[in-house]
Amino acid sequence: MSDMTAFIKGLPKAELHMHLEGSLEPAQMFAFAMRNKIDIPFKTVEDVQAAYQFTNLQDFLDIYYQGAQVLVTGEDFYDMTSAYLQRVAEDGAWHVEVFFDPQTHTDRGIEFATVIDGIVGALKDAEDNLGLSGGLIMCFLRHLSEEAAFDTLKQAEPYTDVLLGVGLDSSEVGHPPSKFERVFAAAKERGFKLVAHAGEEGPPAYVHEALDLLKIDRLDHGNRALEDSELVDRLVREQMTLTVCPLSNQKLCVVDQLTDHPLRRMLELGLRATINSDDPAYFGGYLAENYSAVTEALALEKDHLITLAKNSFLGSFLDQPSINAHLTAIDAYAAAT
Ligand code: HPA
Ligand code: ZN
Repeated sequence: MSDMTAFIKGLPKAELHMHLEGSLEPAQMFAFAMRNKIDIPFKTVEDVQAAYQFTNLQDFLDIYYQGAQVLVTGEDFYDMTSAYLQRVAEDGAWHVEVFFDPQTHTDRGIEFATVIDGIVGALKDAEDNLGLSGGLIMCFLRHLSEEAAFDTLKQAEPYTDVLLGVGLDSSEVGHPPSKFERVFAAAKERGFKLVAHAGEEGPPAYVHEALDLLKIDRLDHGNRALEDSELVDRLVREQMTLTVCPLSNQKLCVVDQLTDHPLRRMLELGLRATINSDDPAYFGGYLAENYSAVTEALALEKDHLITLAKNSFLGSFLDQPSINAHLTAIDAYAAAT
């Protein structure tokens, strides 16, 4: 392990942009397919890996939704979530706020309760056994209708206490944030935090809509905001957190290569950027690997990494005393290494 990799692993970090269905590893996909007697179009882990070549977001989404079909029982959701939490704790995460896509499952006849009970059970066990705190964010699939999102919000009503917030993901272009303005207003009334993917493939106008119409508390991706300097100024002024996903951006061709990644520029502009893995089983790396890859590609230094780790807690939905405690832990770690 290089010095920098060891430094990254030991650095207290939070992960704020990770889709649980995107943590489903090929080996687990086979195991779940077998125990649930579901056919999948792959014979070996190598077949799966060969299929994970994407040129854009939709290429990935098609295969990601197909992979999710092996998730049937509460045990599947528990096991998938536990494996991720174990893995990210090994990467030095102290806190995670993870996404799930209920509609991917309820549209196949899986009960909302089955999905959420499995996930919440794993989050609770990780808190008890790993000391890893966690929150759960329910995403609406933006390629589906506003009505379907409202129906999902209704199904979530009994779980208001265990859900941290709502998000918006799936195919971005052609499905602007404005489509979900009323659903987000209703979610806010119920006390949910609000986040949305915007500016991954969509134009800066979608980021404006996410801010002005959805009234988001945090911006997922946001890369294309850099095309609009007034928007950048506003994001800096409002201290909006951007959950940036370097290996995802590389795999989905949001950037041509990692050396072109805008993360360093984002920090230099004063944006509150964070590093996250998005869909680690599909994009070739978990949290620490995202830090390491971008550190190498952009020649980041320890001070950048400390800022990024601090941003991850500042951008979290933890309460202020917890945030302060984590920031203090980062300072202590930086002073000791
Ligand atoms: N973008 C949109 N939807 C998604 C993503 C993403 O990066 N990952 C999983 N669902
Ligand atoms: Zn995402």
